[in-house]
Amino acid sequence: MKRPFYILLLIISTVLQAEAQNPAWIVPDDQKGKISLLKFTPDMAKQGEVIYMKNCQSCHGIPTKKNFAAIVPSPGDLSEPIVGNQKDGELFYRITTGKAPMPEFRNILTEDERWTVISFLRSFHKGYVQPDPEKLAASAGRRIKLSMVYDTAKRKIMVKAVELTKEGPRPAQGAVIVLFVQRYFGNMQMADPKTTSESGYAGFEWPQDLPGDKAGRVILSAKVSDPTGSMQEAVVRDTLSIGVPTDKPALTDTRAMWSTRDKSPVWVILTYTLAVIVVWYFIIYIILSVLDIRKIKELNL
Ligand code: HEC
Repeated sequence: MKRPFYILLLIISTVLQAEAQNPAWIVPDDQKGKISLLKFTPDMAKQGEVIYMKNCQSCHGIPTKKNFAAIVPSPGDLSEPIVGNQKDGELFYRITTGKAPMPEFRNILTEDERWTVISFLRSFHKGYVQPDPEKLAASAGRRIKLSMVYDTAKRKIMVKAVELTKEGPRPAQGAVIVLFVQRYFGNMQMADPKTTSESGYAGFEWPQDLPGDKAGRVILSAKVSDPTGSMQEAVVRDTLSIGVPTDKPALTDTRAMWSTRDKSPVWVILTYTLAVIVVWYFIIYIILSVLDIRKIKELNL
């Protein structure tokens, strides 16, 4: 075979190997928008430096000095544009969740401390402008009302978000909607969160093979994902007949260990009954033997 073929093979296997060793670090869409409610100030950056030196410097080195630890994957210098170009929410998510060998700081640093470290990192990122926390405060208490319908033609669940303002209701654009379907043991998230369009709609593809109850009913709930906690909770719950009708017995309809007494597995009932019989057999045997001793005594007299 020709040499280019081998080279191609080598490149592909190297990439695959690197990918296996260091899978991509994806930040969920609904986390990217998270912003700090504290205004980043030089003072805050100074406090952030203290936290950084204690928790991050051992791997990431001193920003701009490129003296990060020589480990794989490389921690890199956090003053670089590859970090600077990320949104605040992305940095916050990465610091919060970590990725081996980087520890998760969820329980090591408080949310405020994580933002404080970010403010220190931001002091190295040229052209960075902090999203205005004031603006977020202005939108605090946004009231959103959700409703949902099934669009048969598009085979999509359409979730509509309406914002209730002083001037009256209007379509809520840019709300991140998460859709859940109720299963036996809780809610299962359907697909990725979707952001509402200009008309306030977010459409979720409906998988045509999802089982419902006997009548094909499924219970769906949608809610607004709000990592900043600046909105009033908006949730909608509805039962739609769009699942595949399934005549599945309920969990307690068949004999099983976790079921009620009259639905216990036959072997449990048999073993239990046998054990009870054996125990009573011995008790009666012992009583009879004791009575026998008395009889022997009487005979001897
Ligand atoms: C044990 C070593 C270690 C420590 C301690 C550590 N990190 Fe990391 N960090 C890493 C490694 C390794 C990566 C690269 C992970 C990857 O790309 O797969 C990384 C990646 C990151 C990234 C993403 C960089 C990018 O290019 O997207 C950020 C942001 C980050 N670290 C911030 C911090 C902060 C802030 C601290 C301290 C609070 C910290 N790290 C502490 C090892 C560490």
